[in-house]
Amino acid sequence: MNKVVAGFSKLSKEEKINWIAKEYFTNPQEAIELLKKYWNSDENLQKLHDEFIENTISNFYIPLGVAPNFLINGKNSTIPMAIEESSVVAAAAKSAKFWSTRGGFKATVIDTEKIGQVHFIFKGDSSKLNSFFNETKVKFFTNTENITKNMQKRGGGILDIILKDKTDLIPNYFQLHATFETKDSMGANFINSCLEQFAKTLKEEAQSHELFSETEKDIQVVMSILSNYVPNCLVRAEVSCPIADLEEKHIQNPQEFAERFVQAVQIAEIEPFRAVTHNKGIMNGVDAVVLATGNDFRAVEAGIHAYASRNGQYSSLSHAKIENDIFTFWLEIPLALGTVGGLTSLHPLVKLSLEMLEKPSAKELMKIVAVAGLAQNFAALRSLTTTGIQDGHMKMHLNNILNQFEANEEERIVIRKHFKHHVVSHSAVVDYIENLRK
Ligand code: MEV
Repeated sequence: MNKVVAGFSKLSKEEKINWIAKEYFTNPQEAIELLKKYWNSDENLQKLHDEFIENTISNFYIPLGVAPNFLINGKNSTIPMAIEESSVVAAAAKSAKFWSTRGGFKATVIDTEKIGQVHFIFKGDSSKLNSFFNETKVKFFTNTENITKNMQKRGGGILDIILKDKTDLIPNYFQLHATFETKDSMGANFINSCLEQFAKTLKEEAQSHELFSETEKDIQVVMSILSNYVPNCLVRAEVSCPIADLEEKHIQNPQEFAERFVQAVQIAEIEPFRAVTHNKGIMNGVDAVVLATGNDFRAVEAGIHAYASRNGQYSSLSHAKIENDIFTFWLEIPLALGTVGGLTSLHPLVKLSLEMLEKPSAKELMKIVAVAGLAQNFAALRSLTTTGIQDGHMKMHLNNILNQFEANEEERIVIRKHFKHHVVSHSAVVDYIENLRK
């Protein structure tokens, strides 16, 4: 069947659902009912969510969990995390508790510079373009004053604009490379508006530049867009303690543990196959907080992975060392986050998450997110280098299997009791349920 539809976005929500149900489902009524089951009974709240995107047909739940006892720079926080993976919040909470009695997490913002570029084609003498740029530079600032004045009041704005010659890579390709300070907003709209105005100024001013030939006057702007690679919007999170203090139930020999932990990090530093999984563990913590606080996790992901490859090979974002019997574990990641603007004032659960974090500034949120990433990485490496992850992972996953088999309360009690002392695997649980039900 040819499932093409014209003017879909103009249909009402009901009409959209009916069309999808009819075209794609063997039981259309069941599909419609399921989609509607996830609608919020509060019509205003539902409308708010409907309008976040185009063609909304329902809501897609992801659990919002909390990880308490995070001691960060001497202050205790409970961190909200939106994530579907069963073991992530538990791991964060465990890490937080572990480090809360060992000095807690230290976090520092290294810099907060954002970047945007106007990509353009100039066919002509690059030295003329250079002097044109230097003469025109001030106009890029003055022509954006109506966009930048509010940001300037908040202490932000355009930091600098430089001309970059990229003709060695693509013929006639140049950039206006601009840096910005966007304070508590992520700044995407602000930066893109500035860039589009730069592009306009660039084209207009070139037209009337008397030293340019007719060809040189005709600057072609390819695009104007912020960069999600923000290597100078950087935060560092760290934990550190004497090796002897690492001792606990699963760490009987702290020296051996610390050494193996450092080796595990070294492997991720030199081996991309391991680095990707290692960093994925960090992103479990990062993304969950980024999502709960209404930030753009795709931008964060793209920027962080680019940063992990900055030396030409994908590598670990975190590092560990033992020096004078002190164990230190840290990470540095680029994070462009906002605590004002965007979804932060629109999504009720985002507002709630930010209030739970005591209304952080963007810098404070950078620290919290980096700490969540480090905590997650610590929990993963601690399990991997001691008990292995499957034990804890599968215990958490047991719930998912029980739900899949719609186990009743009685069955759950019996099954949980059994698997307290037996290895959890999907097939072992399925066999056990089937036997129980015989
Ligand atoms: C699973 O979501 C994340 C881990 O694989 C991370 C790691 O291997 O370090 C446990």
